[in-house]
Amino acid sequence: TRRLTQADLAKLYAAGEKVAMFTCYDASFARLLDGAGVDCLLIGDSLGNVIQGHDTTLPVTVADVAYHTAAVKRGAERAFIIADMPFGSFQESPEAAFRNAVTLMAAGAQMVKLEGGAEMAPTIQFLVSRGIPVCAHVGLTPQSVHALGGYKVQGKGDSAARKLLDDAVAVQHAGATMIVLEAIPAVLAAEVTAALHIITIGIGAGKDCSGQVMVLHDAFDIPPGKKAKFVRNFMDGASSLHDAASRAVAAVKDGSYPGPEHTYAA
Ligand code: KIV
Ligand code: NA
Repeated sequence: TRRLTQADLAKLYAAGEKVAMFTCYDASFARLLDGAGVDCLLIGDSLGNVIQGHDTTLPVTVADVAYHTAAVKRGAERAFIIADMPFGSFQESPEAAFRNAVTLMAAGAQMVKLEGGAEMAPTIQFLVSRGIPVCAHVGLTPQSVHALGGYKVQGKGDSAARKLLDDAVAVQHAGATMIVLEAIPAVLAAEVTAALHIITIGIGAGKDCSGQVMVLHDAFDIPPGKKAKFVRNFMDGASSLHDAASRAVAAVKDGSYPGPEHTYAA
């Protein structure tokens, strides 16, 4: 098995095949998800929540993400590896962002992800022009939880929707080759996806994105209990973790997840 590259993902996108992404933080789950056909593994700064037990992603460090990235890379043979740039590691300057992105690439990432829209365009351009592929992330950006006043749906209403579309176009123009759309109305995500020529990855953004990302612990209902509206528990009716992951991949590929019950209105 050969590891997927950015060019392979572009081919999936061109063929109209949905991209299946999971967050992942260790080698064993990386191997399990890889074996279930997950295309991309994201070492999300959600590790602050699900691994470290914090109530936000803000305390996560570059060293934390690098440690988990190295473990995930060792576990997966095929999946494309994306590492999140944590809070404080990229906002200050393009140079600081580059230095921290180098640490994540050296740990095994093939792409870094950073939160933000047009205000991050110069930083994205700085990284991409120096050989570091970038995934952007707009909508609900958890590193800005205190500025946003909580974990709320974004892009509701005409002016917020227009700003989000402008941000998505700006990061594409800066050279981002993928963009996560988190917790926005499904119709807005569909509009953004139609307007861009790069891969859109939705989470709480409806079925019309070019792919979907699921937080591992949410999709497997760990710990058991109520989750966000867009989460589906793939353990429900599954015979094993491998079966749950395979069903999640199939549901993304055939467009049955997310359903209308997982989406937000404009
Ligand atoms: O950290 C994370 O898990 C993420 C995904 C929700 C996109 O950024
Ligand atoms: Na994240």
